Amino acid sequence: MQRKVAGILEEKGAEVWSVEPGDTVLGALETMARHNIGAVLVLDDGGLAGILTERDYARKVKLEALGSSETPVSQIMTTIVHTVTPAASVADCMQLMTDERVRHLPVVDDDGRLVGIVSIGDVVKAMIAQQRDLIADLERYITG
Ligand SMILES: NC(=O)c1ccc[n+]([C@@H]2O[C@H](COP(=O)([O-])OP(=O)(O)OC[C@H]3O[C@@H](n4cnc5c(N)ncnc54)[C@H](O)[C@@H]3O)[C@@H](O)[C@H]2O)c1
Repeated sequence: MQRKVAGILEEKGAEVWSVEPGDTVLGALETMARHNIGAVLVLDDGGLAGILTERDYARKVKLEALGSSETPVSQIMTTIVHTVTPAASVADCMQLMTDERVRHLPVVDDDGRLVGIVSIGDVVKAMIAQQRDLIADLERYITG
């Protein structure tokens, strides 16, 4: 059976680490380091305004020689954010991540509420578990 985003969130939890657009990039990096994550969502008045990833930092701060303690998150965040719903399958996530070259997908429910985030590691882990289940089913079918 196709594993869904809802199942991933049940396992990993719905917690989302976020920053605000006016926070400094340094503050956002500290949040990422504290929670051992590669991206934070940027919430403005509770609404999803963007995402800040390690890639944004590497390309837009380090390469441009900006100062992370003066630069606001809003200056370098990615504002086009691809999201999924809890009903999306792991294959849907993999496709979207591959097509859009992103590694994190915020999860937004049908009412537009932010209910979690999935990363490429979550999706690969779920995909491996799905393949393992399928192989076990086929082995049971073959051996009766
Ligand atoms: N064993 C596991 O369950 C598991 C799950 C995910 C990733 N990983 C491993 O961790 C390494 C890095 O993972 P990655 O590239 O997927 O990205 P990552 O380091 O950003 O994500 C790691 C975990 O943190 C969560 N996360 C990321 N950003 C978050 C945020 N803003 N709010 C709340 N949770 C957030 C992700 O959903 C994922 O579960 C890889 O080596 C990967 O294989 C392991």
